[in-house]
Amino acid sequence: MKIADVNIPNPVFLAPMAGVTDLPFRLLCKEMGCGLVYTEMISAKGLFYGNENTKLLLEVDEKEHPVAVQIFGSDAEIMSQMAKKLEETDIDIIDINMGCPAPKIVKNNEGSALMRNPKKIGEIVKAVSSSVKKPVTIKIRKGFDDNNINAVEVAKIAEENGAAAIAVHGRTREQFYSGRADWDIIKQVKEAVSIPVIANGDVFSPEDAKRLFEETNCNAIMVGRAAQGNPWIFKRILHYLKKGEILDEPLAQEKINTALRHAKMLIEYKGEYIGIREMRKHVSWYTKGLLNAGILRDKINKAKDYKELENLLLEYLQQINN
Ligand SMILES: Cc1cc2nc3c(=O)[nH]c(=O)nc-3n(C[C@H](O)[C@H](O)[C@H](O)COP(=O)(O)O)c2cc1C
Repeated sequence: MKIADVNIPNPVFLAPMAGVTDLPFRLLCKEMGCGLVYTEMISAKGLFYGNENTKLLLEVDEKEHPVAVQIFGSDAEIMSQMAKKLEETDIDIIDINMGCPAPKIVKNNEGSALMRNPKKIGEIVKAVSSSVKKPVTIKIRKGFDDNNINAVEVAKIAEENGAAAIAVHGRTREQFYSGRADWDIIKQVKEAVSIPVIANGDVFSPEDAKRLFEETNCNAIMVGRAAQGNPWIFKRILHYLKKGEILDEPLAQEKINTALRHAKMLIEYKGEYIGIREMRKHVSWYTKGLLNAGILRDKINKAKDYKELENLLLEYLQQINN
């Protein structure tokens, strides 16, 4: 498929997730066949003022392409200035976050708060898309709350103002991540616009992925939480879509080996102190559902360096394999 003139090898994408979809994790998902990866959301103001942390978030590896950078903000002028800076980097797509429900973001009228102001969405999309040649996409929710379900209206406005694709998470801001994602609203958006629509929410298995395509007629799907500690989900979804067969889940050995590789990549990227601490959540995801994983997690949370992490994981593997 294509988003504007960017070729995307397949329609199964990794959703942007703050604190999760950093460069090492994106590379692991890419290895498993993921069609398009998104960075964590990056503050437009942060980049505008040259914040060092923001620069790290923007680092992209050549093996990741195509890659979308997700920005958030509410000031059309700052966002278009920022997009011009991104135009000079080797990222492929600029995505604008219009779905983040976090109170500190909403308070600044950013993220999902924009869903309350479709006119402003039009202004932002126009300002950003007219400043750059790279495709500009948006990621929205169903609406702000149950009394304001406006994904279809917002999608039409975004398309008129130059958006190249729209990702829709079928929940309102008020729902955060609770309840079930409404796939019907995604279908309605798909019927209302002619740019590609990316469906998102509650894909936890290859069968879910197939159903989401069938029920919404979307152009692509986006997987978030199900990819945490589970980059294999992309390979399994793609295989199922192509062949109709369900591949087995990876064995504990493969999960542990990947967690260790992930740790090495993270340490190389962020240093040992931060890398080991950030690995704690990843290890708990990799080992979810494995025997005595809770006990392992408690130990991992005290690990201070790679060697300690490796010893704990290998010892654990030996125990569960005996
Ligand atoms: C830990 C976490 C961080 C997230 N961060 C972002 C983000 O930075 N930008 C964004 O648009 N959505 C973010 N989301 C929302 C996801 O992209 C996705 O819309 C949501 O998780 C629903 O998809 P899923 O059911 O496949 O998880 C985040 C979700 C989670 C769980």
